[in-house]
Amino acid sequence: MNYTIGIDIGTTSTKTILINENGDVAASSTKDYPLEVPRAGWAQQKPGDWYGAAVDTIKEVIKKSNIDPKGIKAVGLSGQMHGSVFLDGDGEVIRPAILWCDQRTEEQCKKIYDIFGYKNFIRLSFNKALPGFTAPKILWLRDNEFQNYKKIAHILLPKDYVRYKLSGTFATEVSDAAGTILMDIAKRDWSDEILEGLDIDRGFLPPVHESQEITSKINKETAHLTGLAEGTPIVGGASDNAAGAIGSGIIREGLVSDSIGTSGVVFATSDKPTYDPEGRVHSFCHALPGKWHFTGVTLSAAGSLKWYYEGFGPNQELEKKYPDKHGYEILNKQAEGIDPGSESLIFLPYLSGERTPHGDPFSRGVFFGISYRHRQDHFVRAIMEGVSFSQKDCLDIIEQQNIKPDKVVMFGGGAKSKIWRQILADILNVKIVTLNIEEGPAYGAALIAAVGAGMFEDVEEACNSTIKELSENIPLPDNVEKYNNIYEIYKSLYESLKEEYKKLDKI
Ligand code: XUL
Repeated sequence: MNYTIGIDIGTTSTKTILINENGDVAASSTKDYPLEVPRAGWAQQKPGDWYGAAVDTIKEVIKKSNIDPKGIKAVGLSGQMHGSVFLDGDGEVIRPAILWCDQRTEEQCKKIYDIFGYKNFIRLSFNKALPGFTAPKILWLRDNEFQNYKKIAHILLPKDYVRYKLSGTFATEVSDAAGTILMDIAKRDWSDEILEGLDIDRGFLPPVHESQEITSKINKETAHLTGLAEGTPIVGGASDNAAGAIGSGIIREGLVSDSIGTSGVVFATSDKPTYDPEGRVHSFCHALPGKWHFTGVTLSAAGSLKWYYEGFGPNQELEKKYPDKHGYEILNKQAEGIDPGSESLIFLPYLSGERTPHGDPFSRGVFFGISYRHRQDHFVRAIMEGVSFSQKDCLDIIEQQNIKPDKVVMFGGGAKSKIWRQILADILNVKIVTLNIEEGPAYGAALIAAVGAGMFEDVEEACNSTIKELSENIPLPDNVEKYNNIYEIYKSLYESLKEEYKKLDKI
């Protein structure tokens, strides 16, 4: 039997899975690591932690599955997008990587528009210059840590740093490279015009491959540390969102997914390289040759519920009533007990600013309409509803690109909640389905590796032979109408508050 490995370098953990040639998961392993928050709005990680977690989890899946590592025909990588890993000439990490959810680069984003002009930059990169993206992080380093900037010999994305450590090769692929906003998205390669305008040396950046191409091979040291055979091929892989989409079969125009993890991502495949002229949704390369995708991102999706859970905990009465339910299962019970609309309690999920559609690092979370009637349970439901409204903001803009889905595939932690699935169906007014595979981006990375290793003809065949629908939630007309009315108020709240957010930031 032939196997492949998929490794997803996430923000809270690395997840590695081993699949066989039928697409069945033979073993999986996860390892957590810390997030550094040296200041409010900043987020960093040590690249060495990612490599360490990759080594440990590879070792673990080989051990758990008890297979001969020679049967592993390829490794696929996926990872959190936009993070900046700065390496010196010896390949050593210069400083902690600045992550996708870091908001420190507002000033550098303005500089990018000063250099190119706002509309022109969107025309060149198909995207806005947003603080989470990689290019402004490079400018931030030049502006604020020039000593470190001078040492740069290589700039890598998180999963590509892990590739470098696994193989000794510098390489990236189209879907993750797109999130640097240093690319010509239509040509699927670095943009000389953007690099020259920003005065960034093209030599810092690795060659860009298509996702299923073999970029490198497992080196001796990694073979020794993990048990993998030396020389095992490593394919390009994909950004976590593109890999998640492949692992959910979102590979044709018109297919849309919604992943509710730490961030919430609405993802739609497109056959053409196009973009929203206002840059409200991201337009990146998909991990399939000749395909692109739109994404809209809610920065704090399940992250908002996690914030609530860690700060306020579950309802203790319900914990006693349902002794077999734990943690988030109790939160689901809490939400189920409240009517749609949370008795007019509205939540804006902007805990660390917002990407889509506002692109506003200063915005913050809000509960609006609190009354004496509201209890813990209302707040839980309002969070699920507020995050879903924010995903509706994303889907509405994607629909303006003539993409009209008849269903949306939901995955990520939020998809485990039946009540959240129904809320999303009612708010988006579209059928929500879940799939037999719940492994997310790691699964997509393993499928891409299987295509690269020739185990499937192409990604389409890999998806068709492995992915099946498991559940569906149909929108309920009464709820749809109610949520439509609340959505109007939800949207107007940001408009009323956007100037106040800036004042708050200055205090
Ligand atoms: C996408 C984005 C996030 C990260 C999270 O643009 O920033 O989804 O990739 O892992």
